[in-house]
Amino acid sequence: MHILITGGAGFIGAHLARRLLGEGARIDLIDDFSRGRPDPDLATLAELPAVRCLERDLLAPGSLKDLAEDYDLVFHLAAIVGVANVVKQPLAVLRRNVELLLAMLDFAARQKRLRRLVFASTSEVHAGSLHHLDLPVPTPEDAPVALPDLAQSRASYLLSKLYGEALCHHAGLPVTIVRPYNVYGPRMGMAHVVPELLQRAERTPDGGTMTVYSMRHRRAFCYVSDAVELIVRLALAEDALGGVYNVGNHAEEVAIGQLAELVAAAVGRRIAMEAGPDTPGSPARRCPDMSRTAAITGYEARVPLLEGLRKTYDWYRERVFRPVGTAAQ
Ligand SMILES: NC(=O)c1ccc[n+]([C@@H]2O[C@H](COP(=O)([O-])OP(=O)(O)OC[C@H]3O[C@@H](n4cnc5c(N)ncnc54)[C@H](O)[C@@H]3O)[C@@H](O)[C@H]2O)c1
Repeated sequence: MHILITGGAGFIGAHLARRLLGEGARIDLIDDFSRGRPDPDLATLAELPAVRCLERDLLAPGSLKDLAEDYDLVFHLAAIVGVANVVKQPLAVLRRNVELLLAMLDFAARQKRLRRLVFASTSEVHAGSLHHLDLPVPTPEDAPVALPDLAQSRASYLLSKLYGEALCHHAGLPVTIVRPYNVYGPRMGMAHVVPELLQRAERTPDGGTMTVYSMRHRRAFCYVSDAVELIVRLALAEDALGGVYNVGNHAEEVAIGQLAELVAAAVGRRIAMEAGPDTPGSPARRCPDMSRTAAITGYEARVPLLEGLRKTYDWYRERVFRPVGTAAQ
């Protein structure tokens, strides 16, 4: 198989590439490194004979011109993501995320043996429904969608993804849409609740106190190896053609306060938690109903939250918090 992953140097993209090597695939990663990092993990991946890592902006004219037209699978993950990024540049989010997908739809249409284009949408599509409708949680894919106030910068992201879903439905291509729910793991950057709590726990002395924001908000976290397993199975499943699928783990929905306790356990510290304010615009509850995805893939997330947090901490401790060669704090 010949596989293209856009946003391939990013968090999910690089883990997905490693998983796909197990299918005996040749894999091309494209990334402009606006967020993905050329770190040692990526370098090890890019050195493999089956992998090519191409640094380019997908929106630059001619950026796809020299690529083959024989891809079997295209995973379109490239997008402007992350709340902090999104609220700073809502117009760019609306424009670039849609233009990126349009470019990939045109590219996919030129492929001679395309089996599937997988588009990464988001769980955020239901953020407005939580306020305006009686949203069921755990949330199935077909729960009605209500839009939040479009004047809020944060709405630009979910709107770009919703419009993207509609483009995919009408593109006349073999498409599968996935909606990841709070995927976490090594190499996810620092702008997420999991690495942020891990870093603060690492810096808090034993017996100390940590402030936890949005403590009562509830989330269901999915370890990245489970997320990419689900995405690969959906990409290969004939029955997933044309469908929308949640990618996540409904088994361990936790309040952020509980997450912080588990983080302290993973880091090996006794830490008292004190409630900080809620983060504005952050949904109070988010958890996927995974029954549709489980029925198609025959797979449910397997990595328990504490185990996933330990693996994530090990990676961050070695690569980010206390890299080899630095003195222990
Ligand atoms: N991580 C999650 O929990 C989660 C949740 C919901 C949705 N998603 C979606 O899944 C996808 C992957 O998410 P992620 O967490 O790996 O994000 P990420 O930011 O780590 O990866 C996206 C990559 O796209 C690249 N990119 C952006 N613009 C580009 C351009 N013009 N040309 C080439 N590359 C470009 C970035 O440099 C980055 O490496 C995204 O589309 C995101 O919206 C992720």
